[in-house]
Amino acid sequence: MQAVSGLLFSLFALVHLTNTALAVLGADLYNDFQTAARSVYQSPLLEVVLIATLVVHIVSGVLRMRARRGSKASPPLRLRLHRYAAYYLAIFIFGHIAATRLPALLAGAPPFFGGVSFSMHFAPWWFYPYYALLGIAGLYHAFYGIPVALGVVGVRAPQWVRRGPGFWVPVATGAGVIIAAVLAFGGFLYDIDDPFDNDYARAYEAATTYFTGDEP
Ligand code: HEM
Repeated sequence: MQAVSGLLFSLFALVHLTNTALAVLGADLYNDFQTAARSVYQSPLLEVVLIATLVVHIVSGVLRMRARRGSKASPPLRLRLHRYAAYYLAIFIFGHIAATRLPALLAGAPPFFGGVSFSMHFAPWWFYPYYALLGIAGLYHAFYGIPVALGVVGVRAPQWVRRGPGFWVPVATGAGVIIAAVLAFGGFLYDIDDPFDNDYARAYEAATTYFTGDEP
């Protein structure tokens, strides 16, 4: 169950990480890709299936973790990093989904490039490390997990993508691209539009005012 749910979710995760990487090349490209991809993953049935797949993957992971309790074996570094990435993702993923989807569903204000960029400017001390780690954890978890899951369903990935430079070079390159993307959202790679002048920023600020009574 964990392997199959992981493989299904990774179809979305790879499209989503590719979308994130495109921020390095420009805001319009990021937005155009997201609009096109969204017409698939946000069709009502698929979106429910996506979230259900994620829940099954996390619950089966927690059950397997409990079954391992008491084991004294020290796993190799690659597997330990895979687990740390899983803990980070499990803690933050539902907050991430709520923060990106609720403004769209409740106020018709999906984030697009401007929404992510707004977050970077609204609370930089939180969003730079949070998004960089979210992207890198997702990338690492998928890169390690996909060959393992394929093995479970009987498809053996070549040895060279599972360890050594064939594993570490793409992971390190991908991590570099995620960091560059985060900097692009922050306006460090090219000029960006005013991050506070978009529907997502207005919806977020209106919600902040509603709940705290403070004007932003
Ligand atoms: C720097 C890293 C990331 C950024 C900037 C980012 C940004 C976004 C944005 C803008 C959306 C809204 C998409 C839309 O409305 O079409 C979104 C949704 C979402 N993200 Fe991320 N994300 C990142 C990393 C991740 C990772 C690593 C995962 C999972 C492993 C993830 C899972 C999701 C999910 C499940 C949704 C909701 C999709 C839906 O229901 O339509 N994100 N993210």
